[in-house]
Amino acid sequence: MSTLPALQWRYSLKNFSNRKVPQSQVNDLIEAARLSASSYGLQPYQVWIIEEPTLLAQLAEHAYGQSQVKHCSHLLVFANETQINDQIVDRYFQRYYQQTSAAIGSAEGYADHIKSALAVKDEQEGQSWAQQQTYIALGALLSEAAMQRIDTCPMTGFEPEAFNRILGLDDKQLNACVICAIGYRDQTAEPPVKVRIPTEEFAHFLA
Ligand SMILES: Cc1cc2nc3c(=O)[nH]c(=O)nc-3n(C[C@H](O)[C@H](O)[C@H](O)COP(=O)(O)O)c2cc1C
Repeated sequence: MSTLPALQWRYSLKNFSNRKVPQSQVNDLIEAARLSASSYGLQPYQVWIIEEPTLLAQLAEHAYGQSQVKHCSHLLVFANETQINDQIVDRYFQRYYQQTSAAIGSAEGYADHIKSALAVKDEQEGQSWAQQQTYIALGALLSEAAMQRIDTCPMTGFEPEAFNRILGLDDKQLNACVICAIGYRDQTAEPPVKVRIPTEEFAHFLA
């Protein structure tokens, strides 16, 4: 099975029809993001799913009026954690011991290693590391959406501070990193031509 036909099909949709994405498919997209790879498996991010029209309209005001935000079926707000510290490592290993057969405490040395690796990052570096992880989860979601022929528009054209305030993310030590509108295209609209870097400029095979 290849994702390539789906990736050819997808594009960042600007004009969403009013068709809603069924809840079970929204759940699948979230699951794809949840299953994403992340550095050390720490997953320093969460996703907020918004479909309430008044809230979407309010958020659109802080997304340079981009109509995708207002007219999509659901808006997904990917929020990175802002405090990258020992706690997120401890939280991961709590899950690790719960979800695997590893003996409690058996990975303590590895946990300490991760803590030291994160401890050298200042706050800004920690945040940008968390944001990098968040983008990988977004990528997994974009591919799954395309496989299910659900349209998307990933966006960074919004004011994170306003989103954080409106959604109460600050209080949760989260920061709106990237957003993604989902929904459906108008089937009669002509898809835009894809503009991409030529393969020979992009990929360098060292034989
Ligand atoms: C991180 C990121 C931020 C983006 N921000 C916006 C945005 O604010 N508004 C928008 O209309 N498209 C946005 N896009 C969509 C890109 O413009 C689009 O992916 C790119 O032009 C390639 O086209 P395609 O996705 O239609 O194939 C963003 C894409 C990414 C990955």
